[in-house]
Amino acid sequence: MRETPDPQSLLDWYDAHARAMPWRVPPADKQAGVRPDPYRVWLSEIMLQQTTVAAVKDYFIKFTTLWPDVRALAAAEDADVMAAWAGLGYYARARNLLKCARAVMADHGGQFPDTVEALQTLPGIGPYTSAAIASIAFDRQATVVDGNVERVMSRLYAVDTPLPTAKPELTALATVLTPDARQGDYNQAVMDLGATICTPKSPACGICPWMAGCMARSQGIAATLPRKLPKKQKPTRLGIAYVARRADGAWLLETRPEKGLLGGMLGWPGSDWSEAPAPAQPMEAKWQETGVEVRHTFTHFHLKLQVLTAVTDSEPNRGQFIAHSQFRPADLPTVMRKVYDVASPALDLD
Ligand code: ADE
Repeated sequence: MRETPDPQSLLDWYDAHARAMPWRVPPADKQAGVRPDPYRVWLSEIMLQQTTVAAVKDYFIKFTTLWPDVRALAAAEDADVMAAWAGLGYYARARNLLKCARAVMADHGGQFPDTVEALQTLPGIGPYTSAAIASIAFDRQATVVDGNVERVMSRLYAVDTPLPTAKPELTALATVLTPDARQGDYNQAVMDLGATICTPKSPACGICPWMAGCMARSQGIAATLPRKLPKKQKPTRLGIAYVARRADGAWLLETRPEKGLLGGMLGWPGSDWSEAPAPAQPMEAKWQETGVEVRHTFTHFHLKLQVLTAVTDSEPNRGQFIAHSQFRPADLPTVMRKVYDVASPALDLD
């Protein structure tokens, strides 16, 4: 008979090895009675959706410095929040972040609700994030299932059904294993285990607190799991970006429409992104080819952008000029920042 994985050995491991994170209450403090701040738990979990801990840390510190609580964030200007999010990607998260902060103020007296069900009524909070907040902030019975957890479960139980087909099965296994105390620490422990020991390649089974009960390890197949169905190839779309500068140094920018890709973010006027984009100059001008193509990959497609530049004082038919002193390239989403990096040498006015 193999041993079954037990939550306590994982919690013991977490007590000794929990990763330090700016939003996390270390397990010793937690057990001494320190309560996590639901605002910080929520903010971190939204940022961590499809994003690594390493990429999130600096953004989390920036946000909590600018907006230390949900009241402050709810009162922020939309443009400031979108600018602060620039570079983190998946910009619908930033739009929902503001909507959620305002809903917590307007409908919940400034306190985050403490159940999975109530949390899921808020913008941007789905099954994953509600489980994370309910367990980590409030020690509610809820199981967090992200890519790390799926990998750990697929190995513990040697599930060879490929992802994404295996998702419901892995979620059920993870749910059964969740203890009825220390749920927040436990969920974070499984994620830490997946991130540091039960890694995608070369898992460190020799130091795993769950090695004795791991079916994949006993069969010598840990590194081959989880199996995955082949990913669909991404299509490539083309586009044209227009970077115009006035003689006084101002830059022509526009706030992208709320709905759609990079919604609500600052960007350069441009064509549609398609197989055959139609030219869409924001004004008559002597547009110059930079000769450099900007490439960027989104979730569902690769993009190749032609970058055109002009110095012109004519009136634009879209967007608005922003004074050079007011313009911070860091406020741009990554693809627009790449366009800036290509265009700006051609637009040096000195
Ligand atoms: N990934 C997402 N949320 C996390 C958390 N709270 N701890 C570790 N990794 C995570």
